Order: sequence, then structure tokens, then C-alpha cells
Amino acid sequence: MRVKGEGRLDSKIWLIGEAPGKQEDLKGKPFCGGAGMVLNDLLIRAKIKREECYVDNIMQTRPPGNDFGHFYKDKSRKHPTDALFERQFEVRRMIKEHRPNVVVPLGNEALKAVVMKDGIMKWRGSILGCGGVKVIPTIHPAMVMRQYDFFPISLFDFKRIKEESLTPEFPRGYRDNFIINPTFEQVMGTLDVLHKQPYVSFDIETAGKQIVCIGFGWSKEDAICIPIFYSTNSWWSEEEEIQIVRAIRHLFANPEVNFIAQNAQFDMVYLADKWGVEVRNLWMDTMIAFHTTYPELKKGLDFLCSIYTKRPYYKDMPGTGGPTTLWEYNCLDTVVTWESAMEIRKELEEFGTMEFYLNHSHKLIKPLIQMQRRGVRIDLVKRREIEKNLVKDEEDLLDRLHRAIGHPLNPNSPKQMKEFLYEELKLPIQRNRATGNVTADENAIEALARRYSNPVLSLIIDIRKIRKLLSTYIRVELDEDGRIRTGYQLTGTVTGRLSARESVYGTGSNLQQIPRGELIRGMFIPDKGMHFINADLSQAEARMVAYLSQEERLQRLFERGGDVHKENASIIFKKPLSQVSGEERQLAKTLIHASNYGIGPRTFARYVGIGENEGRDLLNRYYTLYPRIKMWHREIEMELKRTRTLITPLGRKRTFFGRWGPDLLREAIAYIPQSTVSDLLNLGIVRAFPNLPPQWELLMQVHDSVLLQVPVDADPMHVYKFVKHYFEIPLIVHRKRFVIPIEIKVGMNWGKMEELRV
Ligand code: URA
Repeated sequence: MRVKGEGRLDSKIWLIGEAPGKQEDLKGKPFCGGAGMVLNDLLIRAKIKREECYVDNIMQTRPPGNDFGHFYKDKSRKHPTDALFERQFEVRRMIKEHRPNVVVPLGNEALKAVVMKDGIMKWRGSILGCGGVKVIPTIHPAMVMRQYDFFPISLFDFKRIKEESLTPEFPRGYRDNFIINPTFEQVMGTLDVLHKQPYVSFDIETAGKQIVCIGFGWSKEDAICIPIFYSTNSWWSEEEEIQIVRAIRHLFANPEVNFIAQNAQFDMVYLADKWGVEVRNLWMDTMIAFHTTYPELKKGLDFLCSIYTKRPYYKDMPGTGGPTTLWEYNCLDTVVTWESAMEIRKELEEFGTMEFYLNHSHKLIKPLIQMQRRGVRIDLVKRREIEKNLVKDEEDLLDRLHRAIGHPLNPNSPKQMKEFLYEELKLPIQRNRATGNVTADENAIEALARRYSNPVLSLIIDIRKIRKLLSTYIRVELDEDGRIRTGYQLTGTVTGRLSARESVYGTGSNLQQIPRGELIRGMFIPDKGMHFINADLSQAEARMVAYLSQEERLQRLFERGGDVHKENASIIFKKPLSQVSGEERQLAKTLIHASNYGIGPRTFARYVGIGENEGRDLLNRYYTLYPRIKMWHREIEMELKRTRTLITPLGRKRTFFGRWGPDLLREAIAYIPQSTVSDLLNLGIVRAFPNLPPQWELLMQVHDSVLLQVPVDADPMHVYKFVKHYFEIPLIVHRKRFVIPIEIKVGMNWGKMEELRV
């Protein structure tokens, strides 16, 4: 049936969807099904009354199969049918006739119809116009329903919609004062004046590993872009460039100026490598600061721009013009960063995370830059040897695979693997959890291998593993000095754990996932005259759980030292210590792990390879022994229900926006121990970094451990005391003070380290 618009045409807010769904078609009312419920929720939270809005759709009839593509002549949705074309025109005509204060296109089709732009994720939150009427697009509620982490983003947009619905006027435009294509004198004069500005944002643009231009912003409208390189030539004479770089270095050395950047590590590595420039007083990295308050949200500058400024989306500018466009874009980046920083500061204070940002995240930036710039030496001979051996293993395994199945197969080809698994072997089809699509990815193959002990599946898994080792670690591009580098990301995870990827120049790789043991780590070697020291937080998360849950029996076990898992196994299996088998010890270890993460009996049983009933029985026995752990799980659940926000003992805070359910609860249970352990180690880095004796260097952070290099003749006692002093940081949880001990190892390659003897 035709679903007409609902509400008064003189409403201040118009909500425009795409087309009716099943429920709407049945009831003749727009947005009355699942998507409508999400929409209602968003409206309530943004304090908008639905009865005071006009709600309509671009198409007023339900397309067959709910597929809006039906209203197009072609698959790429470029050519609308006459019916769609007429409705698009009609909606725009109605907007111009009735002039609401804000029109809200919900989803991409409505965006296309109202403002003729494409890409809802780019344009959402922007204040656009249709015949002089304000238009603020947002994500379609049905999409929010499918991907619940869009909810807070949509809510930001609805709050803006509410605010803008109060008047028909567009917000006062920005009166941008951008200095573009400046003369040498203008550059020098502006750099001089910037010394007197309290807050200055900066941003570089790069191409081919060169700084092409650098921008500075000192208000939400004032900026300069200084060109450095154009095409393949320097923009300035040699003498001018020397003077400009000197003036830039001088400016960044000024401790009175508070500098701001988005993803400062990128810019600061370039500035240090190319010009020897050190940014003395970085005041805020907007990306990291934002992540401190909203770890679950996107943190790109385009996203910050859509939330904290009233500027429309501008991020596709660089591809659209010559150098002037790039310079303007560079200025825009700096003013958007500047304006966002001022808003983020207020939010950090309101949310109570300012101190955490300053003392933890912010102070980590410099040591991480230093580690990234330094890199680690690679034994090139060893690397070739490892490669040769792995290639040989891969060939042997492939040969065995082909002989076993009787034809060639590329285990890395999704198409070939799907055909092989589901058509040839007729195994049950595996689907991607998020998309529902048929998949033959790593998880699918592993799930099948667990269920069917088919040796062919094990061969496939082994071949894929070898290929991954080769491509991720052995064949990655090293830098010219034969070192491998990794770029650390402070914003890569929701828990605050660091993530890593290739360096800012695209060399190296993620060094945080390297498997333990000599195979790959053996090629990492210290510089001449040095040896490696590895500092590892011992059984850190399990200890955290013992104190967070106030489970004193478990605390005592850890405090006594010794082999905790063996002792635990002796308690669980009611056996004298001497009779505990290796298998029982391993089970006890996995039980601790399962309880730390609130893992259920089925997953636990599958993980350790026992039946579900046995798994349930063991978990129950564990929780009976340590009842406080289960109570702590409940406390987390209650807190999550009450505030949806958890705070770690070090002050990190996270609001959980996800959909309520067992997955969310498990995530919440794991959050505090996981976050605290990585924050604790990082705090050790922050404390040790400025106090490193000459020649001592921090080289890598790998989740629970840190790799340093120190001269081989350094006194082991000194090394021991230094590491203990800076990395064993007392924590206070439920008024109890405890320390997670650090294990210190020493070695001449990263794969072969032994206990440091003092
Ligand atoms: N989706 C839409 O786009 N409109 C509706 O009315 C319902 C679902």
C-alpha cells in the first residue's frame, strides 16, 4: 500500500527515509517497524518529539524484496526510474515550499534525493542546504539496528538536528582567513607571530616520503599553509628553505606555545627525520584525546569535524584540484584540529578523563615515537636462512596437500577454498558472523578442522600459517639501515592496548603479533656491544582478577609465588602437588583464563578439547573454589546495566555502546584487567623513558612486555634494579596494595632469552 507522510507539513523537523518496509506496508505508517523503534529511541534521547516532526519516505511504496535498487534502471544505481526521479523532484519541491528548519535525510538514498550527494558516512552530520533550507543527513536507523556501534554517532547527529531545528538560519559561516601560497616574507612573519599564540595546531602533507607542505592553525578560522615541495622541486631557494626550516624548528622549540595535532606521531616522526625538528610542547593529540573519551567511536579528523565543528565534509578535496586545493585542504585540517581540540578539552574534563589522558596516553607519545624511529636491527643472514627454510616447508606441505586431494589447490584463494570445502568435501557451510556471507576464511577453516579431524584441513592451516609468517615478518620491507620498524597506535583498540602496523613510511610491519620462540624472533638482534633485556609482567591479568574480585585465596596463591597453575591444579583436582600432571596444570591455567574473560562452558570445553558437560563441571568447581570471581562478574554486569561505563584502577574509562547480550558482558568482564595491564606496562615506559642511562634504549612494546637494549657490560644488578624500579608499579584495588612482578630476561637475540642473573 502507499505509505503517506505522517505529521504536519509545517513541522520544524522533517525526517525523510528511503521506502516503507514490511511493517510500514502493513500498517500504512512510516517508520513503525524495527528501524522505527531505533529512530524513536534516537529521537527520545535527543529530546525531539516525534509528534512534532513530519516523517516521510522518498518512495512511498515498498519495493519488492525491500530492495531499493528496484527503483533504479541499473545495478550501479546511477539512473533512477521515472517513478524515483519524480519523487526525488517532488520531495525537493515540498521542502522548498514548506521550508522546515531542518530536513533529515535518513540514509544514502534520501541523501541523494535531497542534496544530490553520495556517501552517507561521509556527509552525515554536515549542515548542507536544499533551496536555502538546512539539511543534516544521518545514518539510516535500519543500518544502526544492524550495526549498533553506529548508535552514538547517530545520536550526535540528532543532537545537532535538535539544536539546528530551533531556527531556520544557517549557523554563521566560517570567515576563513587562510594564508595560501605565501611569499617568503609572509612565511617568516607568520612563523614569528605564532610564537605569541597560546594554541597552535599543525599538520603536514606528504608524498613519496617527502613533506610537501606544512600548515599551522591558530584559531578556528586562521591558518597558513607553507609549501615545501612542488612536483619534484623544492618550492624555495636553498637559502630560503634553510631559513624556513630553522624558523619552524625555533617555533616548535618554544615551550610557551601549546601545540596540537591529529595523529601527532605521524607528523612528528617526519619532522624529526626530515628536519631534525622536535615538538617540545605537544599539548594535545586530538585523535588520542578523543579516543580516551570515546574508545568505541571512529577517530579520524573527518569524524571529529562532523561532531565538533559546523563545517561540512571536506576530506575528498585533495583529489579534486591542483596545489592550491591541497594547500587549502591543509589549512582546513589545521583549523578543524584546532577547533576540535578546544571542544575535546571540555569533554575530557566533563567525562573526568583529562588526568588519564595527560598522565598516561599523552606522555606515551614521545617514547613511542622514539621506538618507532629507532627500530630494531635484523640479522640479514638469519633472515635469508629462515626464509629458505619456510619456503622449503611450504613447498613440502603443498606437495603433500596436492597428492592427498589429487589436484592443485591454492589455500589462500577464497574462491578455490569455498569450492573445495563446500562443494568437493561437502562440509557444512560457514558464514561470516557480521555479514552472513559464505566464507572460507581462517576462522571458518579452523572451526571445521576442530570439528572434523581431517588431515587435509591441518595441511591447509599449516600452509596458510607459513605464508602469513613469510609475508608479515620475513618479506616485509626493511629500512635502508637494515632495521625493522613498527608504527604504534594508541587508538587502535577499545581497551587501550597498543596496536601496531607498518611505519609511517610504509616499511616494517606489526611487530606485536610475532609468535614467541626462535623461529621469527631469532632474527631480531641488538646493536653492536649491546644485549637485549626483556621485561615481562608476570601472569598479570590473572593477578588483576584476583584483586579486582577480592578473591583472597587466589591472591595468596599469587603472593606465595611458585608455580601458581600447578598449585591451583592440586586444589582443583584434590591431589598432592607432586602428583599433578602436565595436562591438569594446563587445564588449571585455562580455567583461570576462562574465568578472567567470563568464558562459558561450551567455548571452554572446545578450547581444551573436552566434552561440554565436563567443561561445565570444571568451571563450576573453579567458581565454587573461588566464589568471589563469579560475584565480581555480577558486579560488572550490574554496573554495566546502571551506567554502561566502567573505570579501571588507573582511571581509564569506557562507555559500552554495544548491544546488550552475553558478548557485551564478556567484553566488559575482560575490559578492566586487560586495560589495566597494558596501561601499567605503558606507565612503566613513561616513567623509565626520561631516566634511561646513556646508550640504554627502549626498542619495542609487545603487549605485556617491553624490549630494551643495554650495553653488554652494564652491571646486571643495575639493570635489575632499574627495571624493577620503573616497571613494578604498586596498584591499589579495594584498598589493597599489590605489585605485579616483572620477569627480566637477557639475550643476544629476541628468540632466545634467559633469566637475568644477579
Ligand atoms: N525504512 C525506511 O526507509 N522507511 C520506513 O518507513 C521504514 C523503514
